[in-house]
Amino acid sequence: MGHSSWQLYDLRVRTPALELRVPTEDELVALCQVAKAGVHDPDTTPFEVPWTDKPSPRFEREFLQHFWSTRAQWTPERWMLDLAVFRDGEPAGFQNIGAENFAVLREVQTGSWLGKAFQGQGYGKQMRAGVLHLAFAELGAVAAESGAFIDNPASLAVSRSLGYQDNGRRRRAPRGEPREQQLFRLTRQRWQEHRFCEVEVTGLDSCRDMFGV
Ligand SMILES: CC(C)(COP(=O)(O)OP(=O)(O)OC[C@H]1O[C@@H](n2cnc3c(N)ncnc32)[C@H](O)[C@@H]1OP(=O)(O)O)[C@@H](O)C(=O)NCCC(=O)NCCS
Repeated sequence: MGHSSWQLYDLRVRTPALELRVPTEDELVALCQVAKAGVHDPDTTPFEVPWTDKPSPRFEREFLQHFWSTRAQWTPERWMLDLAVFRDGEPAGFQNIGAENFAVLREVQTGSWLGKAFQGQGYGKQMRAGVLHLAFAELGAVAAESGAFIDNPASLAVSRSLGYQDNGRRRRAPRGEPREQQLFRLTRQRWQEHRFCEVEVTGLDSCRDMFGV
C-alpha cells in the first residue's frame, strides 16, 4: 500500500546498481554517518555551502535539519527532492534535484555526493542518470543545470560524459577564498543522445502533482 500522507516516500528511482529514495528518519541518521566518515579530502571543499566543515554535534544536527527543511518548504512552485542513494540496501550517498516554477520553466538543478568508499566506481554517473531520467522522461523537463569547482575532476567528468555543455563560469567562496566554478547545461536533446544506463521510476503517480505537473 502506498504512503497516504507523504507520497514522496513511495517514489523509487532504480539504476543497475543503485536505488534512490526519500530516506526514512533512521535511514537519514545512517546516511549522516556515511557523510561523517568522509566525502572528500578535508584540505578543500567541493561544496558551495561548506556543510562538511562543521564539527560534531553541529554537523549531525544541521545535516538532519537540511533534510527537514527541504521537506517542510516543499511546494509545487519550488521543490527540492533530496534522495538517499542505496547500494545493496546500504546508504552510500545523496542525490538531489530541484526546480522553481517547473510547471512553466521545465528546468531542474542537481547536486550530489558519495561516501569516499563508494566513489570512483561509476555510481556518480548512475545516480545523476537516475534523476535526469526522472526529470526528462517522467516529468517532461527541457533542460538540466549543474556546476562544479574547476578542481573537481570527478564531478566535471560526470556532467561532461552525460552530455552537459559548458555554460559559463562564476566565482564562489565556500571557505572565504574565491574559487572558479564551471557551470553546465544539458538540453533534452543532448540527454537523449547521452543516455548512460537503464533507469526505472516507480511510485510517481501519487506524487506527480507535487512537482507542479
Ligand atoms: C562527484 C562524485 C559524486 C562523482 O561520483 P563517482 O562515483 O566518484 O564518479 P564516477 O565513478 O561515476 O566517475 C565519473 C567520471 O569521473 C571520472 N573520475 C572519477 N574520479 C576521478 C578522479 N579522481 N579524477 C579524474 N576523473 C575521475 C571517471 O573516470 C568518470 O569519467 P568518464 O565517464 O569520462 O569515464 C563523487 O566523486 C563525490 O561524491 N565526490 C565528492 C563530493 C562532490 O564532489 N560532490 C559534487 C559537488 S559539485
